[in-house]
Amino acid sequence: MVTSPPSSQREKIPELRHHCTMFESEFLLDDSVIYLNHAAVAPWPRRTVDAVRAFAEENGTFGSSNYASWVHTESLLREQLRQLLHARSTDEIALLKNTSEALSVVAWGLPWAAGDNIVISSQEFPSNRVVWESLDVLGVQTRHADLGKDGSPEAALVACMDDRTRLLSVSSVQYGSGLRLDLARLGKACRERGILFCVDAIQSLGAMDLNVRACQADFVMADGHKWLLAPEGLAVFYCRQEVMDRIALKQYGWHMLKDPLSFDSRSREIAHNARRFECGSPNMLGVHALHASLDLIIGTGIDRIEQLVLDNTRFMLDFLAARTDRFEIITPHTPGQHGGIVTFKPLHESPESLFDMFRQHRVACALRGGGVRFSPHFYTPRKKLLTALALLDA
Ligand SMILES: Cc1ncc(COP(=O)(O)O)c(C=O)c1O
Repeated sequence: MVTSPPSSQREKIPELRHHCTMFESEFLLDDSVIYLNHAAVAPWPRRTVDAVRAFAEENGTFGSSNYASWVHTESLLREQLRQLLHARSTDEIALLKNTSEALSVVAWGLPWAAGDNIVISSQEFPSNRVVWESLDVLGVQTRHADLGKDGSPEAALVACMDDRTRLLSVSSVQYGSGLRLDLARLGKACRERGILFCVDAIQSLGAMDLNVRACQADFVMADGHKWLLAPEGLAVFYCRQEVMDRIALKQYGWHMLKDPLSFDSRSREIAHNARRFECGSPNMLGVHALHASLDLIIGTGIDRIEQLVLDNTRFMLDFLAARTDRFEIITPHTPGQHGGIVTFKPLHESPESLFDMFRQHRVACALRGGGVRFSPHFYTPRKKLLTALALLDA
């Protein structure tokens, strides 16, 4: 069983008391669980659980009689996502199945010529690698910048670009190492060279502020099930208005048409906005859930959330930095180079056995990036984080 830090220790650290209670009522997590796995699949907040339950009950009782109000919730969700991303208009927001689908829409929609190349990083999650590599059948090369080398990771990415580079695709935070990239710097480098900039934001959206205009992103995608605290299977896809027409459509259906409810019309005119990427019926259950989760995130304030997440990260990094005789920290320590993920490796045992030990103590974490990955969120009580870390000294 997990044991809490002694109360004397709790009193000595003021922020422990603070973190213990602030968001407690927003989540239903069992007290025996220490949930440090938001970079995998997050638990839903109480209000999301309630929204899913209410939606199921309404559907079971009245069917879709109230469909107009479901559509209204969907429009509220688009506005929440616009706000979160600082996009100009909801016309730039599409709701897709997942991050991988959005990446595929971009990769297989853009016009390529043999000899073009795409730059990605050497640390990418498979979704943000295989989709670009799949273009090799068209003679398009995927270049992997080695971010592990000394020097700036952004400079390593830019160094891979040449006059045939058409697109840069990066995760805002690397899923394994936890490295956070300077998106503004990368976006500027891309714009100066006429290169499209694609950001897989699943490892930061909901935890870190992301301003699509400030970082000059052309495409941003993120599924809801990690830092956005929502179910799997509903993702946001941001597509900058100016580049939307460059993406050829590869999926067709009624919902992408300009007038989707004119069922008897023979018109095939497609929507002028990003709804063109949504070919069929929306995932209304997911819409209601993500809307509720964003209500908590936006209501709490993304700046405040980012601060709390980074406080947790610093707390973990400092704890590990005092134990470098036993652990190697994989995540960069430098402020600005990490988000909510901290990955570390034991020096005298295997990461697998350390991971098993955490599992036995009901600490939810993951084996990634060559070590054990911790990913608490803004609401994670500091006392729980300390309890998990204290297991390293036991
Ligand atoms: C960086 C990154 N991109 C994409 C994915 C997968 O996203 P999806 O399942 O929404 O396609 C993950 C999941 O771990 C991830 O870490």
